[in-house]
Formats: sequence, structure tokens, C-alpha cells
Amino acid sequence: MTLLVTGGAGFIASNFIQHWCQTQTEPVVTVDALTYAGHRANLMHLPVTARHRFIQADLREREAVERLLDHVKPRAILHAAAETHVDRSLYYPVETVHNNVMGTAHLLQASLDYWKGLPAEQAAAFKFVQVSTDEVYGSLPAEAPPTPVGAAFHPNNPYSASKAAADHLARAWHQSFGLPVMVTFCGNNYGPHQYPEKLIPFMIRQALAGKPLPLYGTGLQQRDWIHVLDHCRALASVLEHGVAGQHYHFGSGSNISNLALLEQVCDQLDQLRPLPGGASYRSQICFIADRPAHDQRYALDSGVSERLLNWRCEIPLERGIALTVQWYLENPDWFDAVSDDALSAWYRLHYPDNVLP
Ligand code: DAU
Repeated sequence: MTLLVTGGAGFIASNFIQHWCQTQTEPVVTVDALTYAGHRANLMHLPVTARHRFIQADLREREAVERLLDHVKPRAILHAAAETHVDRSLYYPVETVHNNVMGTAHLLQASLDYWKGLPAEQAAAFKFVQVSTDEVYGSLPAEAPPTPVGAAFHPNNPYSASKAAADHLARAWHQSFGLPVMVTFCGNNYGPHQYPEKLIPFMIRQALAGKPLPLYGTGLQQRDWIHVLDHCRALASVLEHGVAGQHYHFGSGSNISNLALLEQVCDQLDQLRPLPGGASYRSQICFIADRPAHDQRYALDSGVSERLLNWRCEIPLERGIALTVQWYLENPDWFDAVSDDALSAWYRLHYPDNVLP
């Protein structure tokens, strides 16, 4: 009985493994290619125990994936490995597709071969959980109710299109071959260990360095922000109670504009790391050119998951933001360990001449 988690050195999966090791006895094997956003520093804090092992492998290499399953012999797979940044996918679209689509196809096919070889009882218990995103649904109109399970996909950028494609593959492997696949869709995660190309850690780092906090366009885009621990509890529940073929939504219902969210982050910083003279970090906020095809709004209807899994979001946004800001302030070494190239990558993408407005 072993759980295999892909992308285990990344943000969501490393938080998940920590949660799993704290709450379950089943051993877990983490696999990660350790590309730019997957860092050993995300695994350092995990309990060193015989119940957790790390293997470096790349899902883009089909034979490596086959060998991995043969070696680990998992009772379930949580597939969280992906290239996850929209901005990056705009600059490296083909690489994003290659990673997210081919990585998933290799894992699905290797899982199918492995699953078909299992004794009947183990095959019946096997689960493949595909971790996806609300971005596959595209932008939700301002007045529309939250997206229900089963809504059509309308991805607008290479990242979300690649995730939608991977989700379609997962569905197809279930429909065509019977692989017990379930797909989860979540809103914007935040919390400890998030690579500082994403809004919250990026802005905290900029703020502390006294640099501008650049919002795209009007800053009035809305996201469904969820603390990563609430997402981890949801994924653990799917691994336990999930039903093959089912889709699950996990949102917090806390729709808030990027500007309002950033102001909350600034207010927390004002409290915990006050600027001299009583100035506010809010004064560093500025507005820059919008992201191409920037989705205005995401919101998920999580009612089905709440009923089927008895799952609820437990961390209110304000509390979650306070905890998160505190964590980044207390862990400057982590920032340094993972992000030698994070800021320079961000600058390269947005400001080829390295000059902020
Ligand atoms: O909705 C779930 C998705 O959330 C996940 O599937 C993605 O993997 C994850 O990256 C995230 O996508 P976003 O594009 O929403 O995340 P990001 O942190 O890049 O941006 C959040 C919002 O903030 C978005 O509207 C763009 C805006 N933004 C972001 C950055 C980095 C800015 O205005 N300025 C910035 O510098």
C-alpha cells in the first residue's frame, strides 16, 4: 500500500505530502523532475521517515514512468505534476503543452498497463486522481453563478488549454479503458512554499525589497482563493472516497479582486513588518499592461464535493492571508533557496530590458 504523488517538490503536492504524513500511515513516494519550480527546499521540512521517499524522474520520459510504476507499485496515484504558470506558458507554449499533455499521457498509459496487471482486489481499490484547475472553464461573466461540475471547458491561454487537454485524456482513459480516474478542479491556491512567480509570494518579495507591486490591467480581476491546506484535505478525501469518473470542484467562495487581495497582503505586512515613518506598502502598488487573454473571473460551485465528500473550506481568506504573510516573513531562507532565478525569470518575461516602471 503506497501512494504515489507526482510533482511532489512543487507547491501543492509538497503541502499535500506534509498533510498526508501528519494524518495517514500509508507510505508515500514523491516523484518530481525538479525543473524550475520544483525544489528540494520544498521537501526539506517533511518528516524524515521510512514512510516518505523521493524519486527524481521526468514524466516526459515514457520508459522512466513505466519503470517508476513498476518500482513503486502504488495503490493510488495523485497526479499534481504540471507547469502551472500562465505567464510562463505565454512565453513557452509548446514546452507547457509538452510537459502537461505528454507527461499526463505517459502516466495514464503506464498506469493503465500497471492497473491491468493487478490482482482483482487491488485493481478494484486503485485510484488515479488528476489534479486540475478552474482555469479550464475560462472566464466567468460578472453576474454568472459559480461554475457547476460538468460545465464545458473554454481555456484561453496555453497553460489552461494544456490542463484541459490533460483532463480530456484522463476522461478518455476512463471511458475507453476503464481506468478508475477522478478529476479535481480547484481555485487559486495560496500558502507556504508557493514559487514566487505567483501573485502572493511575488508581491510579498517585491514589497519587502521596496519595489513596485505591479497589477495587470485594472487589478479588478477576481479569483476564487483557497488556502492550500483546504485543498490538501480535499485531495486526501478524494483519495479515500472518490468515485471513478467523477469530477470534484474545490473553491472557497471568496471572490475578491486582485487589488483588494493585494491590499490585504499590504495591510498584513504593515502590521508585521512596519515601514519606517508609518508609510504603507499599499503605496508601492502600481498598474501595468494587462496579461494577454487575461480571464476576468473564476468561481467554482463546490456543492457536489461538499455533499459527496463532506468537505468544507475551513480557513477563511483573511486568516489564511495573515498566516501566509507571516510564513514568508519567517522563512526568508526558503525564498533564497528556491528563487535565485525566480525574480530574474519574472523580469525576463515582462521586462526584457530589466527595468520596472
Ligand atoms: O485558478 C487556478 C490557477 O491559479 C492555477 O491553475 C494556476 O496554476 C495558478 O498559477 C493560478 O493562475 P493565475 O494566473 O490566476 O495565478 P497568478 O498568481 O499568476 O495570478 C493571479 C492573478 O493576479 C491573475 O489575475 C494575474 C494577476 N497578477 C499576477 C502577477 C504574478 C498581477 O496582476 N500581477 C502579477 O505580477
